[in-house]
Amino acid sequence: MENLPIIVAISGASGIQYANKLVNILSSLNYPFYLIWTKAAKKVLKYETNYSFEDLEKKALDTFEEQDISSPIASGSHPVRGMVVIPCSSKTLGLIAHGIDLNLVARAAAVQLKEKRKLILVLRETPLSLPIIENMRILTLAGATILPASPGFYHEPQTLDDMYSFIAGKVLDQFAIKHNSYKKWKTP
Ligand SMILES: Cc1cc2nc3c(=O)[nH]c(=O)nc-3n(C[C@H](O)[C@H](O)[C@H](O)COP(=O)(O)O)c2cc1C
Repeated sequence: MENLPIIVAISGASGIQYANKLVNILSSLNYPFYLIWTKAAKKVLKYETNYSFEDLEKKALDTFEEQDISSPIASGSHPVRGMVVIPCSSKTLGLIAHGIDLNLVARAAAVQLKEKRKLILVLRETPLSLPIIENMRILTLAGATILPASPGFYHEPQTLDDMYSFIAGKVLDQFAIKHNSYKKWKTP
């Protein structure tokens, strides 16, 4: 179980930097992962970063587009440890909350829920509407973890990179993967 790959899905919310950081840490730990891109994520990547898809993709076991619904990770029979959507848009949150398997991200997330595997959703939206809050409630009841892209300050971040590392580290904590991505809190 511990060495099974994780699915890293990147949706079109702001903050692909968080996904980039997670991918880099997983890669440096030699931890296997699959990557899924939505179409919107590819657009946001161009607007917000100077990375290329290839920068992230070359570190993955395999990469899929949102329309690749016949990929192995669309099936519960394919062994994975769980999945993180990072960053998670409110649209993707809504699809998953309502079981609408419109693309590979929603389908793979639905598989994690039905197989009782870990599903972490790094939602990036503010402020939050009632539909978003309701969708988070439904997903929490269904066993997913809502892990908002909401960096803390107790680790005294000095750079944006420190803030990406904090969120990536919180995701790794969920999977009990050891890392040095951020300093844990200690009483001063
Ligand atoms: C530059 C940019 C930033 C965006 N940021 C967010 C965001 O932070 N949160 C969000 O829910 N949607 C955001 N959106 C809108 C989503 O990209 C849009 O709803 C899209 O349909 C989501 O599709 P996906 O979930 O399939 O990736 C953003 C769009 C653009 C172009």
